[in-house]
Amino acid sequence: MNYRKFGKLDWKPSALGFGAMRMPHHGDDRGDIKEEEAIEMIRYAVDKGVNYIDTAWPYHGGNSEELVGKALKDGYRKKVKIATKLPSWDVEDSDDPDKYLNDQLERLDTDKIDFYLLHALSEKHWNNYNSLDIDIFEWMKEKKKEGKIDPLGFSFHDDLETFKKIVDAYDWDFCQIQYNYLDQAFQAGREGLKYAADKGLGVVIMEPLRGGKLAKEPPRSIKKIWEESEVKREPVEWAFKWLWDQPEVSLVLSGMSELKQVKENVRYASESDVDVLSDRDLEIVDRVADKYRDISPVECTGCNYCVPCPNDVAIPRNFRMYNQAVIYDEYEKYKEIWDEKLKDKSKATNCIKCGQCEELCPQELEIMKLLDDVAEYFES
Ligand SMILES: NC(=O)c1ccc[n+]([C@@H]2O[C@H](COP(=O)([O-])OP(=O)(O)OC[C@H]3O[C@@H](n4cnc5c(N)ncnc54)[C@H](OP(=O)(O)O)[C@@H]3O)[C@@H](O)[C@H]2O)c1
Ligand code: SF4
Ligand code: SF4
Repeated sequence: MNYRKFGKLDWKPSALGFGAMRMPHHGDDRGDIKEEEAIEMIRYAVDKGVNYIDTAWPYHGGNSEELVGKALKDGYRKKVKIATKLPSWDVEDSDDPDKYLNDQLERLDTDKIDFYLLHALSEKHWNNYNSLDIDIFEWMKEKKKEGKIDPLGFSFHDDLETFKKIVDAYDWDFCQIQYNYLDQAFQAGREGLKYAADKGLGVVIMEPLRGGKLAKEPPRSIKKIWEESEVKREPVEWAFKWLWDQPEVSLVLSGMSELKQVKENVRYASESDVDVLSDRDLEIVDRVADKYRDISPVECTGCNYCVPCPNDVAIPRNFRMYNQAVIYDEYEKYKEIWDEKLKDKSKATNCIKCGQCEELCPQELEIMKLLDDVAEYFES
């Protein structure tokens, strides 16, 4: 494994971190984690030198933290740092932070959370903290003194201006941003990455493959661009290498759903380094990004923050089918799935426009309008 710098902290993270948000599960129920398989994946990664695991209160229907706790028994806990997050949208009164933290320590079966984040900060969630009758920074300092949490950070989904404001508001140790070659100028983006790194923050990367989109077998138009490179790389390797190439990146989280992916990503991480891509390679990556933007109808990352929908619409699944059908020109294949496999209540047509999902979407997608597009595409 290769190890990198983590801002001003005297600790070296592995180039790859384990994101415990996309572990294997039974059927459509993400809360029903395939425990044995997931534990094997986590332990394999740790055995190969991965020293950072990222989880959060809501992942896998609230079961991710407990699974991580189980995976880190039998001596694994001391080999790895655990990061988890305070669910910013659910903190409503002064008792809530303690309540969540104590439950998280219990779920993870540990005395201390090594890296603690305020989850998914945005203008709205930031204002929520500022309206509480406790000072969240004082609370964090107190918990740090009590030894329950250590380095303090935040994960982020909003625009660059809000990102800078939050970076400047506190002496953070680290932050976590969505960043990949499609999102160079989205949310914090490249400018935000450099801004935070210049201020001494470790910067953890999430959604490096844009939720898996950049790992799929690329359509012909994208393949043709990759083939112009003298060095042959798999799409996943391109996406990761592009991130590790940048010295400001501290570590790259990957949410992996099978052992094969863990093995591949560990191998890529152990071969990684900064400043290895040529100018020609970087130009090719930018052209691939432009092409993906041209051909993708919905920029959904499949993060599942918007579900469950109160009317049972399978929002990310509808978008995934629509994207796949358009990008790969496979209308007939996905129309058959729409007609014969997707339950009526899961379909985009079942949206009653309550608006709840749009408030939760980190990509700020106009979900209701996009679902209308999906319905029109498959029903017309
Ligand atoms: N704090 C926040 O607001 C927030 C938001 C999002 C994520 N996160 C954290 O950041 C982590 C990383 O983000 P992410 O999970 O969205 O990462 P990602 O790497 O963009 O997407 C993960 C998906 O990529 C695919 N994948 C990974 N390795 C692969 C390989 N070698 N070959 C083929 N496909 C591969 C898998 O898709 P398939 O399952 O389809 O095979 C996997 O589910 C999360 O797990 C979570 O811990 C935090
Ligand atoms: S707007 Fe539609 S898809 Fe979104 S939560 Fe409401 S019913 Fe579900
Ligand atoms: S619609 Fe938004 S919240 Fe829902 S899965 Fe896609 S990106 Fe995530």
